[in-house]
Amino acid sequence: FDPTALSDALPLPLYLQLARHLRSLIVEGRLTDQDALPGERELAETFGVSRVTVRKALRELIAEGLLHQRQGAGTFINRSPHVEQRLSALTSFTEDIGGRGLKPESRWLGRSVATATPEEAMALGLRPGAEVVRLHRLRLADGTPLAIELSALPASVLPDPDLVQGSLYETLRGRGHPPFRALQRLSAIRLPADQAVLLGVPDGAPALYIERRTFLENGSPLEFVRSHYRGDAYDFVVELSLV
Ligand code: GLP
Repeated sequence: FDPTALSDALPLPLYLQLARHLRSLIVEGRLTDQDALPGERELAETFGVSRVTVRKALRELIAEGLLHQRQGAGTFINRSPHVEQRLSALTSFTEDIGGRGLKPESRWLGRSVATATPEEAMALGLRPGAEVVRLHRLRLADGTPLAIELSALPASVLPDPDLVQGSLYETLRGRGHPPFRALQRLSAIRLPADQAVLLGVPDGAPALYIERRTFLENGSPLEFVRSHYRGDAYDFVVELSLV
């Protein structure tokens, strides 16, 4: 903790200055050795501010999802799973998360059979007016939301979204349509409010927008996915070689 980070001379209220200082310590991972923050009285003394100021600062960070309080026990940092993800392997969320000893889960945000949008038709090589199945899922690991994925598949491959109970890739393999190859594009974005809420991060938090087009071995398009991955939860790793 750096008490000199706060100053009466700054135009920002003291509680927001304190929240900013604590936020940067948390998000930069500089409080990794401890899960609990010191008590309100100790924080007030350390920073030379009132307990009311400390309480207001903590309330800000709780609202942002960085901290939580347990009755009688204190204030704790919300640790989210951190996933190191190989970029070159065509794996599913279920495999990625399960392989790390975490529990993969999905929450449905929507599922439907619909006419492909022009973008979907183009990505999936479908005729205009063809049907797609759309699966919109919040993906979680050990109860923590990590990503939002919107997959569209030709209805000829997956006629009914209810066929997918757990893993989509498992379902596709079981139906004789194993994903074989994919093209993926990643870009950095700030999360819009509706998605930030679902992922439990502040409005505008950094994320990776990932588009994936998956193909069958015979080259036919299988899946078009638009997803948002939490920037604070993922490191993408890829091996490079001389070309
Ligand atoms: C990853 C990919 C998605 C794919 C999903 C399938 O998350 N980024 O493109 O749709 O895996 O996951 P599951 O088989 O767990 O449903």
